[in-house]
Amino acid sequence: MRLPYSEKVLDHFKNPRNVGEIEDPDGKAVEGSPACGDMVQLTLKVDEKTRKITDIKFKSYGCASNIATGSIITEIAKGKTIDEAKKISWKTASEELGGLPAVKAHCSVLAVSSLREAIRNYEEKQGIVKDPEPTNEKVVKRRLSHVMNPLTGLDVIRTNLITDIKITNGEKKTIEVSVDLTEDHQYANNVKEEIKEKLEYRHDVEKVIVRFKE
Ligand code: FES
Repeated sequence: MRLPYSEKVLDHFKNPRNVGEIEDPDGKAVEGSPACGDMVQLTLKVDEKTRKITDIKFKSYGCASNIATGSIITEIAKGKTIDEAKKISWKTASEELGGLPAVKAHCSVLAVSSLREAIRNYEEKQGIVKDPEPTNEKVVKRRLSHVMNPLTGLDVIRTNLITDIKITNGEKKTIEVSVDLTEDHQYANNVKEEIKEKLEYRHDVEKVIVRFKE
């Protein structure tokens, strides 16, 4: 069978570098592709003084192009400062890989956006984002669109697993998220952890409460 992939893509697909998940990461992102529904998770560690990426790992639930891109961008990003790593684009990845079929562009975009989101996550946690957006319903929905509904493999917003979002304003905000699962559901705890993870680090959020249905 003749595949539309360069030798380098096949090498990174068959022997992907930096696969896995860093425990207690400084930055983390889970991104899903609206084009195909596939997901990528990326975790990284950053040196506080130099702001260089000291470790980076990815897990892909995507296709060969996505795995090869995850592999190459983590290889390029390792040792770079976060500002340098932000400049890595899908074009950089595709050139580095000797080209990708045009129909597969969204797969490398997915890997690259997981890198950018993980860096953003790090910057928000560290309070180094300039003029951070206040957390409102739109921001909450955007953040939660990166949480997967394990029942469908699509995100919890698109699949209406989130039934209500309440934001209480104070000096710092409390966010209450209602989920269309009972508390004893096998995935309830996972969903709860992921929702909290996506919102708790925000600069103006004090507390995240996840409510399940009776
Ligand atoms: Fe989904 Fe490539 S087809 S990531």
